[in-house]
Formats: sequence, structure tokens, C-alpha cells
Amino acid sequence: MAEPTWRERSRQSVDGPERTPHRAMYRAVGLGDEDFRRPIVGVANAAAEVTPCNVHLDALAAAAKHGVREGGATPIEFRTITVSDAIAMGHEGMKGSLISREIIADSVEVVTFAERFDALVAVGGCDKNLPGMLMAAARLNVPTVVVYGGPMLPGRFEGRDVSVQDTFEAVGRHARGAMGDEELARLERAACPGAGTCAGMYTANTMASVVEALGMMLPGGAAIPAVHALRRRSAEDSGRQVVELLRLGVRPRDILTRRAFENAIAVATALGGSTNSVLHILAIAREAGVDLPIDVFNAVSDRTPHLADMKPGGRYHMSDLFMAGGVPRVMRELLDAGVLHGDCLTVTGRTVRENLEAWEAAGPAPASDVVRPFSDPIDRQGSLTILRGNLAPDGAVMKVGPHHRGVFRGPARVFDREEAAFQAVSEGAIRPGDVVVIRYEGPRGGPGMREMLAVTSAIVGALGDQAVALVTDGRFSGATHGPMVGHVAPEAAVGGPIALVEEGDEIVIDVPNRTLSVAVPDEEMAARRARWQAPPPPYRAGALAKYARLFGSAAEGARTAP
Ligand code: FES
Repeated sequence: MAEPTWRERSRQSVDGPERTPHRAMYRAVGLGDEDFRRPIVGVANAAAEVTPCNVHLDALAAAAKHGVREGGATPIEFRTITVSDAIAMGHEGMKGSLISREIIADSVEVVTFAERFDALVAVGGCDKNLPGMLMAAARLNVPTVVVYGGPMLPGRFEGRDVSVQDTFEAVGRHARGAMGDEELARLERAACPGAGTCAGMYTANTMASVVEALGMMLPGGAAIPAVHALRRRSAEDSGRQVVELLRLGVRPRDILTRRAFENAIAVATALGGSTNSVLHILAIAREAGVDLPIDVFNAVSDRTPHLADMKPGGRYHMSDLFMAGGVPRVMRELLDAGVLHGDCLTVTGRTVRENLEAWEAAGPAPASDVVRPFSDPIDRQGSLTILRGNLAPDGAVMKVGPHHRGVFRGPARVFDREEAAFQAVSEGAIRPGDVVVIRYEGPRGGPGMREMLAVTSAIVGALGDQAVALVTDGRFSGATHGPMVGHVAPEAAVGGPIALVEEGDEIVIDVPNRTLSVAVPDEEMAARRARWQAPPPPYRAGALAKYARLFGSAAEGARTAP
């Protein structure tokens, strides 16, 4: 069934005598007559030397192009940007991270729109790549397959597997004298052994798993290590498959349904995935026109146990999940228990259930304790929880686990910037039982919702991961663990209640009741509100000022919607 998508768009740019100039330009790029008779597939490539997450993507883009050609279409590669979340972490540069998601989405959309590509292969690695590319695919609604760069292998240090997470936490131990310069330097050299995304179930690997669960990536594509030969084969298969989707007329919005998003949330929460997945899933759903309120995360978490024992909270890295059967192993457990919607369509042209049956038919999953059976989970509920209350009327996000499912109550230690909180932790001014509040770090206030990994790692390094809670209108890295509440909405910069908290106010994080509150009477909060004044914007020109004006609420994915 060739119509309606087969060459529907590219014929606008290359067919007929009036398109002679266009073909002349393409001939100069290297295309010929046969290429113009085929559909044109854009290959969006986020390759860059700014991060190991993306340093190897050229080879995957080349494999995808080979697959597109074999499938019977013409590939045309173009670039988009990335930033490295780990390298941007802990300083002013992190304000560019969420902005990069919007730039990736806009750039992939605009090139595909302007060149009239018929379909898209999206090749990305670091945290914001796949969410940005999927947002573009949802807007464009041209047949799309996502190719992931894959996780880095863990490094080896003093007899144990380590990743960049260990280096962040080592900074806290080093600051309080529990780790020497020489040991820190040896860890630095061991933690990141080569190409790929940060090795645990942090944001990039969570989002790759989400994309696989949504059905927008070939089965198994999330967990294959960056350096594994299967990675190129999967990229080549993806190129071939996107041409098949063109023939079938299957578009992203046929796949990105409400039920598919519920599947994605179930997988993210069963994996103990990053809180950032809440933000990105909400944003992608809105781009796809799907009604997905933030409270759906609680409903799905209630029926989804935490199954995978993954870093940062657990023991294993993404390469261990790959050896244990990958994301399909988790999906199979959830499908058999009736948690997943097996009838959702995917980029294979088959349903989730059919994909998992094919995966199982390929051979038994190896025995391992990386993924626990549904009947014997790590935790009876999923890991992602939405809190509401007088401190977060529109919602806040917390990653919970067996160790922090109770009530955390303590005095607020209030900071208006991440750096001020980091300094207080480094100087030993934060004590067990405190609730560190970091505000004016929201989508508009930061701008860009900085991730507080440097602070949370310093806290964990200095005091362990249960002693101090943190509440912020910013975000957390996927590598953060402990009682940390982020995405507080409305944010401080627009007058959210978090702006009204004062030093010493009692903050209550009540996980069983899913509330986040400040124990201050309503009349006192009203009086504080009457005195509150919005601070001047931190940037008055350039990209940061522009995006600060455009960002929406974290409770709706912090998109820059028109
Ligand atoms: Fe790219 Fe961690 S910096 S995944």
C-alpha cells in the first residue's frame, strides 16, 4: 500500500521541470536520477565530540543510511546538536541542557519540514537527544524509527564496576577528607572506559527504554552496548524498517497512543528509571496530541512493581540488563502479568505482544538476578511517584524505593541557587534531618531546570542517601538517589509556593499519601505572598533569555509550546 506516504512529500521538492534547480542542488551533493525516483529519508544525526554519548554516532548513521538504501529509499543525513549533561552538570552550563531538547526538536522538525523528507531515522545518544527527536517526530508525523547510540560499559575500580555516578559521589567524599587526591585521580581515569551514554539506568538509558516501550525503536535497541557489533546491525535494520513503514503507511501518531504512553511509564517505573522521564514523556505526549495528565504516573506505578535492580539505586548497569535480555525481558514480565497493553502497534509493523513473542522464540532469556520476576519484585510499586500538596499544587516528582516509602519531615534549609546549596553541603552546614530547598531553578527561573546531581551526590557522599531530603523546582540527574523531590510546580519564578518557604519551616514529604507540604498556616502563606516580588530574570539577552520566556510548566513537560 504505497499511498498515502510513499514519496508524498519529497515529490514536492524533486519532481517535475519546475524542480530542476532543486535537483541540480541535490546532484551537487551526489544524488542521481535513481535517487530522485525513490522516497527520501532524512537521517538526523546528533554525532559530536562534546560527549562520549555521541562520539560514535557517525558509524550508526552510516549503517542506518545503508539500511535505507537497501530498503529502496534515498537517505540524506543532516546534523543536530547535543550537549553533554554530565559535563554541563554542577555549573551554569546546565541551564543549556533542557534548552538543547527544544533545539533538537525544532531543528529536526524544521529540516525535515523544509526539505520535504518522506520519513526519518533519528540517531541520538545523550539525555536530551531521544526526547527531542521524538518530539519532532510526533509533530511531523512522518514514518520514523529511532536509533540509540547505546550505553557505555562500566569501568573497573578496586574490584567493582563503576561509572560517572561514582565520580560525582567521590567528590563529596573527597571534600570531607574521606578520599585522597590520588584515589580520586585513579577513579577519574577508570570510570568512563569509552563511547556510550552514562552506564546506569540514568536519563539517557531510561529514555531509550521508554522509546523502545513506546514502540518507536526496534525491539532490544535500548540496551545494546555502544561498542557491541549488534548496535550497527540494529541501526541498519532500522534504516531498512523505516522504508517498510513508508510502504505500510505507519506514522508516529499511529504508534504514540495513550496506551503506548502507559506502557512506557510502566517500563520506566519497573526499571527504577530517571525522574526526567516524567518530564520528557509528558512533553512527547503533548506533541503527539495525547491527553496524559501527570497523575497517570501514580495510577501506572500502583499496578507496576519495581523489577530491575539498576543503578543508581540498585546494583547493575545497562550492559548487565543487556546480558539479561534487555528491555524485552522486563516487558515480557509486565505483559504476562497484564500490566502492559500488548495490542499497541510498533515500528516493526507488529504489536508489542507479537514483538515479545518473536523475542522469546529467539531463545530463552539467560538466568540472572538483574530483572526480578513479577511475583518477587524489588518493590511492590513502581519507582516514579507524583506528589501534590500546598508546596506543589500542580505536582512534583520523586523516585521512591523500599528505603524511602515513609514520611520525611524536617526544617527547610533554603537556597535560591544550586551553587549556594552545594557550598553549604561542602562546608558541613547541612545536618542530618534537614530538607534542602533549592528554588528559582525551574524551567523559567533557572532557566532550564538544572539537574542537582552535584548537590545530591555531595549530600550522599557526605551523609549517606537517607539522612537529608532535597526539594527543588529544578530537576535531578538520572544518577541521583535518596529522598529527593524535583519538578515542583508551579515554580518559584512564577510565584509558586516554593518561593514563599522560609528558613526553618517544617517541610513534610509524605510518600504513602503522596503529599509535599510546608507546615505553615494558610494566612501566613497569604501574607508572605503579598510581600513576594519576582526576582529580575537572570538573562536578558540570547538563547537563555529567549527560552526562559517560552518554557511552560514542568507539570506539562516544560515544553516551549506556541
Ligand atoms: Fe550523556 Fe550522561 S552525559 S548520558
